[in-house]
Amino acid sequence: MKPKVLVTRRIFPEVVERLRQHFDVEYNEADRLWSPQALAERLREKDGVFLTPTERVDVALLDACPRLKVVANMAVGYNHIDVAACTARGVLCTNTPDVLTETTADFGFALVLAAARRVTEAERFLREGRWQTWSVHMMMGREVHGTTLGILGMGRIGQAIARRAALGFGMRVLYHNRSRLPEAVEAQYGARYVDKDTLLREADHVIVVVPYSPQTHHLIGAAELALMRPTATLTNIARGGVVDDAALAQALRDGRIAAAALDVFEGEPRVHPHLLQVPNVVLTPHIASATETTRRAMAELAADNLIAGLGCGPQAGRPPT
Ligand code: DGY
Repeated sequence: MKPKVLVTRRIFPEVVERLRQHFDVEYNEADRLWSPQALAERLREKDGVFLTPTERVDVALLDACPRLKVVANMAVGYNHIDVAACTARGVLCTNTPDVLTETTADFGFALVLAAARRVTEAERFLREGRWQTWSVHMMMGREVHGTTLGILGMGRIGQAIARRAALGFGMRVLYHNRSRLPEAVEAQYGARYVDKDTLLREADHVIVVVPYSPQTHHLIGAAELALMRPTATLTNIARGGVVDDAALAQALRDGRIAAAALDVFEGEPRVHPHLLQVPNVVLTPHIASATETTRRAMAELAADNLIAGLGCGPQAGRPPT
């Protein structure tokens, strides 16, 4: 008998087809969002799950699904999964690093540019019919090339952003990370390791790329925003909750910083109402990895991990990432 697996959201037909070669698959092709109870109900008799950041794996779910052996997460971030609880029960958790690094870095850089150059604000101005004439002072933004980028979190994505900044835009790169990178890696981007406060004080543009954890909750709050230059921008492509959105909205309203760009939000898909009221913030719906090529690669990798994790097919024995 084939192992039973659940695919929690609509993915790609060929990936589902591949999973069906190994598993008895229940597939949420309708792409409905399930309540925790509905998810537990469907997962009760399953051996594995292919899921996304919209599904939470916590103790209650694990208790309700004693057969579960593998959680294959189609994302690199896994703050929606209680990995410690999974490990304690012998449930293997996998994620999809690497395949989304460059695409996510592209989008992070797009947001830095959009915030600095007021791209969405200018577009709204035009669409609303407010553009009367070319003028010298209209929609002036901040320079990006040749300025200083501060990167909080220098993992794979942080380093891909550093490369774009240093080699493409001639920026000086400061970074802060749990641990310092080897000198040879720093040298590739001319990146300088500094403490968080120095980074916030000196950067013209700050981008946040750390994983979410209790330690990084509100890593950027009112006190940190107060350290930043009034001309600086802040971009968050990490996870909601790493930035205190209420404090950020207040800082934008008060002109404490010049602009911001957010792809992730505390309690998303809800967005703090004050953020919706300030013009100088670019808001996007958690799409940093959303290109056809990358989302397919993420789905293929999550499927590989599920197949290997449940010990099926040619990948069996290959350690999941
Ligand atoms: C990730 O992979 O963690 C992204 O945020 C989801 O697209």
